[in-house]
Amino acid sequence: MISPHGLSAVAPPPDRSGTNFRPERQTTGSVTGSITGSADRPTTGPTAADRIGSSVIRDLLALTERPGVISLAGGLPDLDLLDPERIRAAADHAASVSGAHGPVALQYGPTAGLATLREVVADRLGVDADEVVITTGSQQGLDLMARSVIAPGDEVALQEPAYLGAVQAFRAAGATVVGLPGDDRGLDVDALSALIAAGTAPRAVYVVADHHNPTGAVMSPGRRVRLRELADAHGILVIEDAAYRDLRWGPPTRPLFAPRSPVVHVGSASKVLAPGLRVGWMTGPTDVIDAVLRLKQAADLHTPTWNQLMVAHLLGDGHHPRHLERIRTAYRSRAVALADELTTRLGDAVEVTVPDGGMFLWMTTRDGTDTDGLLDRAIEAGVAFVPGSAFRTRPPGSDTEADHTTARLAFASRPEEQLRAAARRLAEVWRP
Ligand SMILES: Cc1ncc(COP(=O)(O)O)c(C=O)c1O
Repeated sequence: MISPHGLSAVAPPPDRSGTNFRPERQTTGSVTGSITGSADRPTTGPTAADRIGSSVIRDLLALTERPGVISLAGGLPDLDLLDPERIRAAADHAASVSGAHGPVALQYGPTAGLATLREVVADRLGVDADEVVITTGSQQGLDLMARSVIAPGDEVALQEPAYLGAVQAFRAAGATVVGLPGDDRGLDVDALSALIAAGTAPRAVYVVADHHNPTGAVMSPGRRVRLRELADAHGILVIEDAAYRDLRWGPPTRPLFAPRSPVVHVGSASKVLAPGLRVGWMTGPTDVIDAVLRLKQAADLHTPTWNQLMVAHLLGDGHHPRHLERIRTAYRSRAVALADELTTRLGDAVEVTVPDGGMFLWMTTRDGTDTDGLLDRAIEAGVAFVPGSAFRTRPPGSDTEADHTTARLAFASRPEEQLRAAARRLAEVWRP
């Protein structure tokens, strides 16, 4: 059983309860914990690991991946939608590329990434290849960017509930994360404006404008324009995380990023190809990109060359648009099936919006059903999801009603029959 309490245990700083592998320092400087032989060497302040808590979602996923449980908890893409022939061809192609120092796939490469992939990405973004850095997943882009632009104590504003991977990257860099409200039109830009008017213009604003994780919201055109205006007027850096942008089946949206604008774009091959390849990219103002490159060199020298060659091949070959179409069509039918079964079984007790892209359906209980408690019962009944409380950035104890009446259901990696079965199981245990 998962206790509802455990799920609420997102550990924002300064609570270090989630970092049990670090020594616990006291104000006297003495150490009460132990870490591989360095127990008598206290550091002078919190380390990056101290600043972030454990990942509640990772702990939760371990419990939900039990046999027999239809898990709608993890945000996994459906790899069955990848054409194995194309993947094999991309791997073979990568293995066959030869350079001045032997097979490129097996050799060290440039920190910014291989020219071949930088060019494919640059072409998509309308920038020059030398403005692009290839990262080890977009998560590394967030981490390096955070450490490049944020000094300890700086504020980073974002829509609450939030993608905790980004929250962790910002906190590790020493940022104070400021959660702002949002709705089905994305981040509430009026709330940002009010924050600025109150005298605290954040250093940066982090946005997942297209198919937000976890809410699935898409930022409205008007809010995008206002956000850019506010950011320009107050020297705020906008960080656009476009991880789900290519999974859109609704009408196109306008990105926040524009070439040579004060916006950082972070992108990923994970959601449209395979997360195991760990390939992402970023572009943005030159000084940010220069700083990111210095940190990347220290972090991992470069992203694996074999994977970069594969991704360049897969994104660049003529089949990619058809592949995207295939994923979008499958995900759309799944989203519709899940929403349909939930509303059929639960009626007014639940509010769901069919998304027009992404991988998540955001559910709100209208009859006050507590989603933390529901999860306990759901796992017993063989279905899992992530309750809204797991995505909040505020400390436990400052919960809002929405934290406990919302949930994220990932529909991407399950066939329609399983999604319908999951909704039926949920309906059976809806009430205690
Ligand atoms: C909004 C968002 N950004 C970034 C990432 C990181 O993805 P990756 O590092 O695989 O590119 C994720 C992963 O789930 C995500 O949901």
